Amino acid sequence: MTDPRPGSWWRDAVIYQVYPRSFADSDGDGVGDIDGIRARLGHLSALGVDAIWMSPWYPSPMADAGYDVADFRDIDPAFGTLAKAEALIAEAHAAGIRTIVDIVPNHVSSEHVWFKKALADPRAPERELFWFHPGRGENGDEMPTDWVGEFGGTTWTRTTNPDGTPGDWYLHLFTPEQPDLNWDHPRVRAEFEDILRFWFDRGVDGIRIDSAALLFKDRALPPVVEGERHPFHDLDEVHEVYRAWRRVSEGYPDRALIGEVWMPEVERFANYLRPDELHAAFNFDFLGCAWDAALMRACIDRTLDAHRAVGAPATWVLSNHDVTRHVTRYGRTTTTFSFENNLDGTPVDLELGTRRARAAALLSLSLPGATYVYQGEELGLWENENIPVERMQDPMYARRGHSRDGCRVPLPWSGDEPPFGFSTTQPWLPQPPEWKDRTVQAQTGDPSSMLELYRSAIAARKAEPGLHGPDFAWLDAGAGVLAYRRGPQFACVLNLSPEAVELPAHQSVLLPSSQLEGTLLPPDSAVWLRLAT
Ligand code: GLC
Repeated sequence: MTDPRPGSWWRDAVIYQVYPRSFADSDGDGVGDIDGIRARLGHLSALGVDAIWMSPWYPSPMADAGYDVADFRDIDPAFGTLAKAEALIAEAHAAGIRTIVDIVPNHVSSEHVWFKKALADPRAPERELFWFHPGRGENGDEMPTDWVGEFGGTTWTRTTNPDGTPGDWYLHLFTPEQPDLNWDHPRVRAEFEDILRFWFDRGVDGIRIDSAALLFKDRALPPVVEGERHPFHDLDEVHEVYRAWRRVSEGYPDRALIGEVWMPEVERFANYLRPDELHAAFNFDFLGCAWDAALMRACIDRTLDAHRAVGAPATWVLSNHDVTRHVTRYGRTTTTFSFENNLDGTPVDLELGTRRARAAALLSLSLPGATYVYQGEELGLWENENIPVERMQDPMYARRGHSRDGCRVPLPWSGDEPPFGFSTTQPWLPQPPEWKDRTVQAQTGDPSSMLELYRSAIAARKAEPGLHGPDFAWLDAGAGVLAYRRGPQFACVLNLSPEAVELPAHQSVLLPSSQLEGTLLPPDSAVWLRLAT
């Protein structure tokens, strides 16, 4: 593969998240698979993305949609085989697309061989690789802590001794099927460094690191107390692990480590991006930001300042497989996102959400750094809020009353009714019939479609020198409007006010997100401009 910018592709790449279960199904079982991705690489080439990140595809009992990994060195039969994964990596490279795999270091599946051994025999050495602990209370029948899990719910499950008596408890920050690993143990560290090499040796260009800030736990198991050091969020020891991972990655050319770091304190977040740690991390501050000019501007400034301080590229993320799709978020009265504030079922204006999502695409594709596109956002898909409870699969639903299934619905490719070319049978989650207008087929060649907007924007981004450096300056555009310059000749203007606004002086219009009214930019719209020099 020829790369015009060797050595730093991850700094300004457009990275597309493939959710394998829901991308394309090649064998007619209703679940997407690797051959489905291979067959649809043409869509990704036409879109123009630089890289794809695959959510976990390893053998898994699927208690958490594959984030419960039983074996990091193989592929779940539902998705294919290791040989097929290798073929995909090679075919993507041949098409000029890099690949990123998802590694989950905080926990494994309860079906992982280590945990099975640990559970079978309390004296097994594998016991030390997890967090087994006696219970509190006279008979040890109270959990060791009252920690609340990351999905809500409790964090300990009691084991049964081989003689049938109640035994120790084990820790799981997510579901009981996801026991937490003990990162104080050298075997755990060595294992994951080896897993990284396993995938780097197979040619993958990057690793997405799941729940990257949770690895270490305070051995004293203190309670969570507001204002005090958290017992399992962002413990300082984690940085030593990522320094070691960085050394592993530097044994290969051009490999990137990208962290999933949910962290309200931006300085603590930036610690993960110091020059000897991760290359990049997802910007959830931006994802959760309200559709509001002042808040958006403050978020962008905060992001750029924090990344500049450590020399890391910012990332711009609007959606992923965990959060409500942004067409839906931006169509609500409350446009923020947080797991704590469940807005499911509140009124949504999809037309408004779509209009804003188009503008947000031009924003996220023109800020300095890398941009992430979650599969289906290029089609303008909205959250399916009508999945019957009995078809929901997400373990979060039972704990929080919010299901992430609504953003994980299989893609519509073609045709007038479900399964829209995704499969030949009923998909694992139902697709809204209204998506007949959102298929790849229906949108291709329609200049007003979301898909053509993404294709044009990504192509224009590639060709635009101003979008590939760190240069960024705000332009004065009045209240409710964000405007910035990238390089001497490129500007983006985003109107978040309720009135149409006059465009700043420019030489030509490169790309608008909605129809301009003469030289006026309508509300909830963005435009890319060529400036006069
Ligand atoms: C991350 C993943 C999410 C998963 C969780 C536990 O947040 O993105 O989907 O449920 O980690 O692995």
